[in-house]
Amino acid sequence: MKFIHMSDIHLGVPGRLIEGIDPHARLARAFGHIAEHHRDAQRLVITGDLTDRADPEAYVALRQALQVLPMPVRLMIGNHDCRPGFLAAFPSHPVDAHGFVNHAEDLPEGRFVYCDTTRAQTHRGHFCDKRRSWLAAQLEGAERAFLFFHHNPLHLGDPATDLLSVVDEDQAPLRAILKAHRDRIAHIFFGHVHEPLCGTLAGIPFSGVPSTVHQTIPTLANADVSLSAALEPSYRVVLFRGEDVVIHQVPFAWDGEVVEHGCDWEARAGLA
Ligand SMILES: [Fe+2]
Repeated sequence: MKFIHMSDIHLGVPGRLIEGIDPHARLARAFGHIAEHHRDAQRLVITGDLTDRADPEAYVALRQALQVLPMPVRLMIGNHDCRPGFLAAFPSHPVDAHGFVNHAEDLPEGRFVYCDTTRAQTHRGHFCDKRRSWLAAQLEGAERAFLFFHHNPLHLGDPATDLLSVVDEDQAPLRAILKAHRDRIAHIFFGHVHEPLCGTLAGIPFSGVPSTVHQTIPTLANADVSLSAALEPSYRVVLFRGEDVVIHQVPFAWDGEVVEHGCDWEARAGLA
């Protein structure tokens, strides 16, 4: 089984550029690449920042763009989105009992748990006690779980990025839940960071994915300035191989030279 992890597509009013990039053209290219090379993926998960300024036209454009994809898509919202605006465009999208865009589904490989870390009028992440209770219940009922967040649920050691992580007062109790269930949490995926990231949270592997639009350059030093550039965009292909999980990063918009090598490695090394 494979699925696609993509994030921070930042769609705006059609025609508006971000750092010289047309997010709609980028998304169309990414979706075209997925439709051509990964039609067998079981899911596409987009971990938030579906739009740049929550314009209704952007959500409508996303709804239309999704039609080229053959696989089910799971959408999450980020700090650049607006929960009511998202739900107006996707009225049948599941929400939890409190109206958060929390949802989960059971696949053969485990329970996929999609968590809403947003709060209106702030770029910082929140995961209040209602959402934590929902998550704990999802984990208690799962043998193996894969968690998806928009905001990074831990500090990353980059002061500018850490200003916008899940806030400290929610981060600590969330960590307690994750630690209590870490034997059954196989991986944590998040967006928001606009950079390729991997590590562990209390022993649980995590990964953050680049944006399809603009990328962050970590300074690891300066909380006052955040650096961003039009670096190579990517999506990730996540492979389930028996008990193993393997994550590939695909630079779908690369326009430079690509060289084809034969794979007769042993002959080339004089071993065959
Ligand atoms: Fe973003």
